[in-house]
Amino acid sequence: MDAPHPAVSPGDAPDTRGATPSAPLDATRTRRPGPVLRVPRGATPTRRVVLAGSGAGAALALLAACGGGPAGTQDDGTTGGGGSGGDGPDVGPGQALASVDDVPVGGALAVTVDGAPLLVTQPEEGTFAAFSAICTHQGCTVAPGDGELLCPCHASRYDLATGAVLGGPAPSPLPEVPVTVDGGEVTSA
Ligand code: FES
Repeated sequence: MDAPHPAVSPGDAPDTRGATPSAPLDATRTRRPGPVLRVPRGATPTRRVVLAGSGAGAALALLAACGGGPAGTQDDGTTGGGGSGGDGPDVGPGQALASVDDVPVGGALAVTVDGAPLLVTQPEEGTFAAFSAICTHQGCTVAPGDGELLCPCHASRYDLATGAVLGGPAPSPLPEVPVTVDGGEVTSA
């Protein structure tokens, strides 16, 4: 009955289990995650990478969009935000823009006429003017400022009476809308 002993000895399974407790097995297991992680890196980006990339792209897209000012103002800026300043708002003659009493002396009133944002100004009492409110820099909507017209995006400043650039990056004056005063109303001419 000695046969079982030699027969058992070639069976390395029990001996291997005994000789190599669990360290080699654990080492093998710990090595597996390494190559598994490397393969996706080389072959195709993992989902996390794709998401991070898309996030960065979206951020860049947003930054690019920010350069053009608020999205709502770019559609009206038919000049494409390039700051040409040569194209005035499409406001036909005879349009009531504002009541005289609503336009502060030495200030301006922001109005929208046929979808076009305008600034009706009264630089001196009884003297009125109107301008496109689309900044000639990158198309943001210019607002009434303190004795001037002010773009909130990059602080371009415009003159109340002429729309001329007083400061900031705006390359050209605000396009003017000719006006007349009739019956207490500032009207496009
Ligand atoms: Fe830049 Fe107006 S959009 S200053």
